[in-house]
Amino acid sequence: MTLSAAATDLAAVLIGERLGLDCPQHRRSDFAEAIAATARYARARSAEDLLARLASLDDEAPEWRKLAQLLTVGETYFFRDDGCFAALGSQVLPRLIAARLHAGTPRLRVWSAGCSTGEEAYSLAMLLDGLLPDAFRWELDILGTDVNRAALEVARRGVYRSWSLRATPSELRERYFAGHPGGFAVRDELRRRVRFAPFNLAGQRQPAAGSVDLLFCRNVLMYLSPATARRAITRLQAALAPDGWLVVAPAEAAAQSFRPLTPVNFPGAILFTRERSSPGPVAAAPPTPDVRPVARPVRRPAPPAAAPEPPAVTLERARALADRGQLREALDQCLAVLRRDPLDPAGHVLLAAIRQERDELGPALDALRRALYLDPDCAEAHAALGHLLLKRGEGRRARRHLETAARLGARAET
Ligand SMILES: C[S@@+](CC[C@H](N)C(=O)[O-])C[C@H]1O[C@@H](n2cnc3c(N)ncnc32)[C@H](O)[C@@H]1O
Repeated sequence: MTLSAAATDLAAVLIGERLGLDCPQHRRSDFAEAIAATARYARARSAEDLLARLASLDDEAPEWRKLAQLLTVGETYFFRDDGCFAALGSQVLPRLIAARLHAGTPRLRVWSAGCSTGEEAYSLAMLLDGLLPDAFRWELDILGTDVNRAALEVARRGVYRSWSLRATPSELRERYFAGHPGGFAVRDELRRRVRFAPFNLAGQRQPAAGSVDLLFCRNVLMYLSPATARRAITRLQAALAPDGWLVVAPAEAAAQSFRPLTPVNFPGAILFTRERSSPGPVAAAPPTPDVRPVARPVRRPAPPAAAPEPPAVTLERARALADRGQLREALDQCLAVLRRDPLDPAGHVLLAAIRQERDELGPALDALRRALYLDPDCAEAHAALGHLLLKRGEGRRARRHLETAARLGARAET
């Protein structure tokens, strides 16, 4: 079943309204294929017939569920982005915990919005478990939501392949996972602490206002249309407790999008809160060991005048190191540049190249998606993504990106 350009346009509008998903040029054929597949699944006579039906169905209908499953990108893993978890474990959560204890309300609400298959929500549960030795005295609500119900079923089952645990320290693997024929199963005790529910960020439902202490919405806004993302951000902000924190991915953290929240810089992460002042040392925090190894390169005080200037942290230097095959140093350099300027697509493209050289294909893919989120017309990112997808045997998607790269390249030359 092939879709006409007019039907694809209509699908893009309808899917944009209902699922909030953006349909840039390079995703048009994904949308067309998903509509064709859903038409077959729903035994519709034609794509146009399905589109007419979709318009009158509510989001719970199997046709919409199928589309959500086909069109969302669910890439995720436990403890994704260690800078973020380090900031939470060493500063943000101890402050929140201390504040709740001080107020005599030992209660914390944590929400992973766009949780995909649940790794993020379980990571938060592990982090909290490590920070709260007396967790049983606390009222903890750890919620993962997503528009893709098939992903939520995986989350509820809690069984993962080792690839999902690639950034999970071995002591946490041992403590929170049991062996399973499918890989690793989240131990029941932890699994019971996390609940999962469908929630469409593009829908009309407003989550309970002023109640969420820690709200994760990472690598989700980048797939939404700008208007839907703006509406979603407004609702998410309203859901935050007065001293709550919002966590988005570094590439999504353009401060102006989150006003009136204030961005607070941590090594390797930018988090948002209503508080004016950035958190200093956590004087009032209870003596709670951090479950994540939070050691990250600490910025040292300026050297004495006679000491040689350290080389500047730049993309050029990162590129030169990569060219010389010094991949570990190139990676550190590139990550340092991105911490300073997470919105630079060129940095993400270089990061992807370094990751790819290190055989870290998942993170490389992530980096390229971020680059394209920041600049959908970045020919270099399309080309790199095309080659990476070819390597993964995804010929059709690869071809689309390579074609887009060629088109953009030709446009740049004229
Ligand atoms: C790349 S995953 C991010 C998973 C996790 N937050 C992370 O950063 O590792 C993006 C998730 O956003 C979800 N998503 C996309 N559109 C959504 C919407 N309108 N409402 C809720 N979730 C949505 C997708 O289903 C997918 O599971």
